Amino acid sequence: MHTIETDVLVVGAGPAGLTAAAFLAKHGVDALTVTRYSGTANSPRAHITNQRTIEVFRDLGIEDRIRGAAVPNELMGNNVWATSFAGQELARLKTWGSGTHRHADYTAASPSAMCNIPQHILEPLILEAAKEYGAQVRFSTEVVEITQDADHVRAVVRERTTGTEYRVRAKYAIGADGGRSTVAKQLEFPLRGEMGLGAAMNIWLEADLTQYTAYRPGTLYWMAQPGNDYWVGSGTWICVKPWTEWVLLCMYNPEDGEPDTSEASVIERARATIGDDSIDIRIKAVSKWQINHVIADTYQKGRVFLAGDAAHRHPPANGLGTNTSVQDAFNLAWKLAFVLRGHASPHLLDSYTQERQPVGQQVVDRAMTSVRDMLPISEALGFRPGQSTEEGWDTVHELFSDTDAGRRRRTELDAAVQLQNYQFNAHGVELGQRYRSAAVVDDGTPFPDPVGDPELYYQPTTHPGARLPHAWLEHHTRQVSTLDLTGHGRLSLLVGEGGQPWRDAADKLASELGIDLSVASVGVGCEYNDVLREWTAVREIGDAGALLVRPDHHIAWRAADLPEIPLEALRTALSSVLH
Ligand code: FDA
Repeated sequence: MHTIETDVLVVGAGPAGLTAAAFLAKHGVDALTVTRYSGTANSPRAHITNQRTIEVFRDLGIEDRIRGAAVPNELMGNNVWATSFAGQELARLKTWGSGTHRHADYTAASPSAMCNIPQHILEPLILEAAKEYGAQVRFSTEVVEITQDADHVRAVVRERTTGTEYRVRAKYAIGADGGRSTVAKQLEFPLRGEMGLGAAMNIWLEADLTQYTAYRPGTLYWMAQPGNDYWVGSGTWICVKPWTEWVLLCMYNPEDGEPDTSEASVIERARATIGDDSIDIRIKAVSKWQINHVIADTYQKGRVFLAGDAAHRHPPANGLGTNTSVQDAFNLAWKLAFVLRGHASPHLLDSYTQERQPVGQQVVDRAMTSVRDMLPISEALGFRPGQSTEEGWDTVHELFSDTDAGRRRRTELDAAVQLQNYQFNAHGVELGQRYRSAAVVDDGTPFPDPVGDPELYYQPTTHPGARLPHAWLEHHTRQVSTLDLTGHGRLSLLVGEGGQPWRDAADKLASELGIDLSVASVGVGCEYNDVLREWTAVREIGDAGALLVRPDHHIAWRAADLPEIPLEALRTALSSVLH
């Protein structure tokens, strides 16, 4: 059996593996990605792509491609609950920052708007970028055995088309092999939680629903039909392509038996929730999946890391599946590149678990809570298991009646719908990730007190560990984001009006340490001109202060003002971050 040598073996080419492959290639790391399936995702699956993830793709240079292929933010905003598309609308919520009261929060926080891009359209775009950067990706190639010792990871991989097996010897490996991770299992990563907490059937179909959706454009249409025995309503319509292609997602309890997946049965289910028999329906595919609430206690064992669903498995509520997977890979790729290039000690890699595991924990818990929080809607609608269709309609009529009971139930429904903000406008969960780790130098100050519920509201701060706040700047008549001055695989120093001593220190240290350390002057009248004073309002440091920003846009260290010897202050910070 022959052996291939590489620096990093990436196992899996879903959102996590492809993102890792792309950034490792961009950073010039010798890596090999192998994946069991013969191609990228063959169905829409996850689709909500949040601002933080688009920022990652912006760094990769593919934001415009993603945007060109995605359903834009402007068409995502209405979450509709109804008895059917043609039937009675029961409730509506403006989502993903599109509502009057949230729109400014979202636009102020990031240069990148959220979009709806189904996984089968997203993955080929990441793959294309990975290949352009020179990544090697081998499809139909699975890891059948993986072990490690102090110096190497060793894997046996099998080409599924020929049955040929060979060995891969790598310095590091990333298990991005999804919810049934072979890597996690064989290397006995500690996984905690429960599997099979519910199940879902995805029906991917074509049906022209323009007349029922174009006037209330959205990503999710929740059908709640009287007399229905399905959990969380009769089916959720997820927009794949406005307004003709959809996934109808039906959650069910496997204890009540498996649903009929025959074409006739799923067409009947779709027809019932459309409520208009004149609409043609063409089924493209039906698949089933289960709800899990699982998290790995550590994302690293020796030389092997987990990323994506291999490390965290949770329901699709809040749309955090692919987002968290992409962000894991973004966090890990630069650290591996720094260590492999000799710019950081391997201890830098310890920060991956320290930073991403608490995020994963928050994500799995939030998603599970959001699923449970949908129950009050069904309760407020008065729908109960075992209820007849007639009883179900009576409760709908009562809900809209001019009676005390109707008034009380409308108040309950409003409260239940408002609770959904924790699923559909959870800006703090989406964007507010803050790291506490050995790759961040705490400055001894507390994080600022939250101005609102931290799950709902993102609060910009330059406290070490936080993501660099976005502000629009002007540079030679061009508009750029603060985030654009950082990233791209290198460390960055943002300085202000009194920044020359910092620039001198950074130039000296960059050549001394052989690292790429970019310096940008940001402030009123600076090279990056804060014409709107947006940066001045959020930077939390003085004109002569500095921010050291990591390649993943998170702040590693800050100086509020100019210290006596900036060179020494920066040297200490760099050696602390890079170990
Ligand atoms: P992912 O599972 O995407 O990829 C795993 C990769 O590992 C694959 O490329 C596979 O070939 C490879 N692999 C597996 N074993 C291997 C081995 N031994 N050797 C080599 N390669 C191996 N999420 C959400 O937020 N909203 C949603 O609506 C949905 N809907 C949905 C529907 C269906 C049908 C599924 C299956 C999943 C979802 N999800 C979802 C979940 C979402 O798809 C998921 O969170 C991401 O795909 C996770 O990305 P990863 O890259 O971690 O794993």
